[in-house]
Parts: sequence; structure tokens; C-alpha cells
Amino acid sequence: MSIPKKDPKGEVKKPVDPTAAAAPSKKGAQPVALLRGMRDLLTPDLVYFRHVQAVIAKIAGAYGFSEVETPQVEETALFVRGVGKATDIVEKELYTWETPGGESVSLRPEGTASVVRAYIQHGMLNMPQPVKLWYTGPMFRYDRPQAGRFRQFYQTGLECLGDADPIVDAQLILIAHLVAKELGIESIVKINSIGTPDSRTNYKNALVSYFRAKRSKLSEEDKKRLLKNPLRLLDSKDPGMQELKAEAPQMVDWLDEDSRVHFTRVLEYLDEVGVPYELDPYMVRGLDYYTKTVFELFAASDDPELAQTAIGGGGRYDGLVEMLGGRPTAGAGLAFGIDRLVSRLKDRQALPPHVEQVDIFLAQLGEMGRKRALAIFEEFRQAGIKVGEALTKASIKGQMEIANKMGAKWAIVIGQKEVLDGTAIIRDMDAGTQEIVDAKKLVHEIRKKLGK
Ligand code: HAM
Repeated sequence: MSIPKKDPKGEVKKPVDPTAAAAPSKKGAQPVALLRGMRDLLTPDLVYFRHVQAVIAKIAGAYGFSEVETPQVEETALFVRGVGKATDIVEKELYTWETPGGESVSLRPEGTASVVRAYIQHGMLNMPQPVKLWYTGPMFRYDRPQAGRFRQFYQTGLECLGDADPIVDAQLILIAHLVAKELGIESIVKINSIGTPDSRTNYKNALVSYFRAKRSKLSEEDKKRLLKNPLRLLDSKDPGMQELKAEAPQMVDWLDEDSRVHFTRVLEYLDEVGVPYELDPYMVRGLDYYTKTVFELFAASDDPELAQTAIGGGGRYDGLVEMLGGRPTAGAGLAFGIDRLVSRLKDRQALPPHVEQVDIFLAQLGEMGRKRALAIFEEFRQAGIKVGEALTKASIKGQMEIANKMGAKWAIVIGQKEVLDGTAIIRDMDAGTQEIVDAKKLVHEIRKKLGK
């Protein structure tokens, strides 16, 4: 699939007539395939997704974060200003189009800019600070799809706005570590400080003069970076760059006093709670809003590719609220890559934690039994008893097999005779014994057996 044409503003050209894409071909209807980099999430994969999201939500809630949901489509300007004009995310990866009303809008590539917009828009600056928010949902980046990288992927993120204390950064990193631990994933945090914009400008100048002297050894892509966004040179995947980088000036040596003290404090807090971390002097991250602390979370793996694929990332962004039109306000946050966490759980063959289990199974025989079962199922649902059924199946043997798979300890059998007599059969699935009860007392009898 080719990358759609972009106009000079970086916007994907709008199709003239969207219905033309659905014109029937001469050969008859062709199946419409998924877009590249997109997936349908099916069960049991979704069970893993929901589990991972629930674990993060639980820990975020315990640490005082409340949930927020922002739109998946925002004004393009939000990401251009928030994430940064010269970032890959904005330059190459935004899904952007013009609405019929002439606005330029984009699918969100990440959640932080939107949360900060909401914080400003809803006057959260005037609430007691810090304001701690978490969110979950799909993000969209028109990147080249590969293992662990999708064009629609899922993040659960946490943002803490209105407090500049380094303990906030440390607590976010601790949460990242705890989430991985709760999921049974051994993790390591890589961390760096990129200082304030001023100290970064000085560092950038040092970096530019270092790489300018080595310009002939840079790839074409890296030459462009040198001009546009020299910090991103440190992120370059070009093999030749690894050697060049080793001699390059390091940000930590250029930090202003405030950033240096801040960074030291973050590391001290991490030592205090025993969170394992590694200093990564070259980490710059792909979003322009960061100041001071930046970090990424990795899962331990023997596979070098996996060991280098971040399962989460974040940092401090003390300038972002102001950049988006609010008054100067500190902020820090992190986001987990849900798809990647799920993939790590599956690699370990950790079973989905909640395979659907039922209390009882409702089996039916014949048309009368089947009709009656519709109403009985609802009686049980209202009584808070989880019932399994296979109403479309006729054979009792087949239904009993399904009941076993669902882990039902008891099955109720309703046939024509039971409907006419006003009774029901309760079958003990382990013992294979059966008893007949008055249909009116069925829910009561089952409650007794389940101890509910
Ligand atoms: P990010 O590092 O761009 O940060 O993304 C966070 C995580 O999302 C990554 O570590 C990765 O696990 C996952 N991720 C990113 N892109 C993809 C993709 N194409 N396919 C699958 N997973 C992906 C942010 O987005 C920041 N907003 C994090 C943050 C919050 N910083 C402060 N607050």
C-alpha cells in the first residue's frame, strides 16, 4: 500500500467522491479488507486487553487518578503545537483531513495533548493541584507497520498536572514498574533528563557542531535531522550512528542546576522504592513537549528486538500547558502501550485471567422448552446468577458438552414435559444425578445450591 499524497501542509488529500471507492467491480463484490496496520480485536485477545487496561485503571485509581475521556479527533493545530511540528509523529504520521466545514482535523496520535487541552478548557487550573487524570483508548499513527507497531494502537495513560516536584516523576515511574509487576512482567526503566528548553538549546548547539564535523558519515535522513531536529539524531537507528553517538556530547553534562537537582532527586526516590532503572544519556523521545525527566519502560527479554521495544514511556512537560494557551503549569505523565503489554503476556502464555465461567447452564429440549428457556434465562439474570445457554442447539448431549466447557456445576433442563408439568430438572454436572423441582422455586433452589 502506498503512502497517501500529502500537500505541502502535511495534510492527506481529501478524496473527491468517497462513494466512488465503493463502486461495484465487474467481477462482483470483492471482500473489503482491513486497512494495513489495523486489526480487529477478537476474544480471547480482547480478554487480555481488558485485563491489562483494568490492572492499570486499578493502580491509577489507587494512586488518586480519575478517568477522563477526550475525543479521538481534534483540531490538527493541537498536535502541531503540542507534540511538535518537526516530530515524525506530526510530520509523517498524522491522519489528517479537512472536514466539509473546512477545518483541519486529525486522529489523535497520543493522549497527552488532548488531556492538557481538556485541563485548560475546563478550568482545571483553578482546582486543587495537582490534577491527576488517566485515560484509555485507541491512538493513530501512520507509521510503517511492523511487529508491535500498528497504525491504530491502544494506550492507557496517566497525566499529573500542576506540580513540579520530582516526587511526581518518581511516583509515575513507580506506577509503570508496579503495573508491569502486577502483570507478571519483569521490567526495566530507562531514564534521562533533557533539561529545560534553555539548557537544551545550549546542548543542541554543542551537538550540532559535533555532528557537523561528521556530516559526511551521516545518512540522508540524519542529515535532515541535523538541520531540523538535531536531538533526534540520538534516536537514529542508522548502524553507523552508534559509533558516532558514543563520542557525542551528553545532555546530562549540559543540564542547568535546577534540572540537575531535579534529576538527582528523581533517581534518589527510585532508589528508595527499589525500582530498577538504567541511565540512558541518548534518550530524547519522539515528542517535543518534554522537559527534564524522560523515561521508557522495557520488558526483560532474551529476544534483542523485544528487549528494545518500549512497553510504555513518559516524562515531564512543564511547558505544555502554556504552549496550548494556559498559564504556566507543570505536568508529567506516562502512557502504556497496551498492544505490547498484551503481546508480552501472550509470549509468556499467561492464560487470559478471566475465561468466561458460568454458575449454571440452561439446557432446553423441543420448541416448548426452548420458548420457556428464554424467560427462565432472564429470571436468573435478574437474580444475579450467571447462566450459560446454547438456545440454538437441539441436542442435549451437545448442550451438556458446552455446559462442561463453561464450567457449570449445575444444568437446568427444560423440555416439553417440564413445561406442561410446571417443573424443571436440575442436573449435578459432576455427579451426573438429577432432581425435579417446582419451576416456581427454581431460582430459589439454585440460589441455595450456589450458596448465594
Ligand atoms: P510514546 O512513547 O509515543 O509516548 O508512546 C507510549 C507507548 O505507546 C510506547 O512506549 C509504546 O508502547 C506504545 N506505542 C507507541 N506507538 C505505537 C505503535 N505504533 N504501535 C503500538 N504501540 C505503540 C506518548 O504517546 C506520550 N503521550 C506518553 C506520555 C504521557 N508522556 C507524558 N504523558
